[in-house]
Amino acid sequence: MRVTIFGSSGLLGNALIHEWSGDAVTGLRSRVADIRDAQGVQRVVRETHPDWIVLAAAYTDVDGCESNQDLAFAVNSEGAINVAAAAKEVGARLLFLSSDYVFDGKKSAPYETDDPRNPQSVYGRSKAEAETKLLDLMPDCCIVRTSWLFGVGGKCFPDTILKLAASRPALDVVNDQRGSPTYVVDLARAIPQLCRQNASGIVHVTNAGDCTWFEFAQEIVRSAGLPTTVRPVSSAQMARPAPRPAYSVLSSARLRELRIEMPSWRDALRRYLKERQN
Ligand SMILES: NC(=O)c1ccc[n+]([C@@H]2O[C@H](COP(=O)([O-])OP(=O)(O)OC[C@H]3O[C@@H](n4cnc5c(N)ncnc54)[C@H](OP(=O)(O)O)[C@@H]3O)[C@@H](O)[C@H]2O)c1
Repeated sequence: MRVTIFGSSGLLGNALIHEWSGDAVTGLRSRVADIRDAQGVQRVVRETHPDWIVLAAAYTDVDGCESNQDLAFAVNSEGAINVAAAAKEVGARLLFLSSDYVFDGKKSAPYETDDPRNPQSVYGRSKAEAETKLLDLMPDCCIVRTSWLFGVGGKCFPDTILKLAASRPALDVVNDQRGSPTYVVDLARAIPQLCRQNASGIVHVTNAGDCTWFEFAQEIVRSAGLPTTVRPVSSAQMARPAPRPAYSVLSSARLRELRIEMPSWRDALRRYLKERQN
């Protein structure tokens, strides 16, 4: 297979480049291909002529999206359409990365792939709009919703907690948002399997199990052997510009149908901590 990855310099993109083997993979960063530039995207897609395009490029600053709404939609929605149009022209399949933030978080059981979208933030709305437009334009595209990404080589929650815990005796972390942390290495191993299986439609891919950010932070500090105390607080006490869903656990039913297994987030965290030490 020939594979072209948009967003190869990002947290997931990096892991995809490292983990993908057995295929001819080209990684593109925004300097080479800004997905807002339809003609530039068309040119690189014609040049690389891929069988699959993985679209991991996005404006991912969830709070930044609230004050930069135009940029959020230009990259996350219109940019995705530019990539889909170019894919269609060369007959490539498209795998688009989406987010748990397309949901409102009002459920208390895992979100199924066909549950109605009801995003609460600009970032979530830009991803939800991309999903519906992509499915219209390219009904056989594959939309991978994931959540709470962490990995080496970029800003992520465990890295922030470890840096803070190194210098503070106590940390306050929200305990009223529940989701599934996802190690980019595990996601980057699942994505080629989806491509090889010619998967289409919406698939949820996260590490198994769920927790709150507080529980995640507790496990990070404990696993790293740090003496820091982690204290539970509410989202109201830690107000941020973008509202987050209170519950965004994604059902893995579709992934199980495809016979792809994801390790638990605790196991993933242990491997992340080892990778971070090296
Ligand atoms: N992080 C999470 O917790 C999370 C959760 C759910 C879903 N997702 C989704 O998963 C995907 C990967 O996320 P990530 O955390 O790996 O992202 P990331 O680390 O923030 O990386 C974003 C990537 O997008 C590229 N990019 C940004 N604007 C671009 C533009 N206009 N044109 C072309 N490329 C552009 C960046 O390239 P440069 O660095 O070269 O500018 C970078 O490679 C995204 O679609 C994201 O929305 C992430």
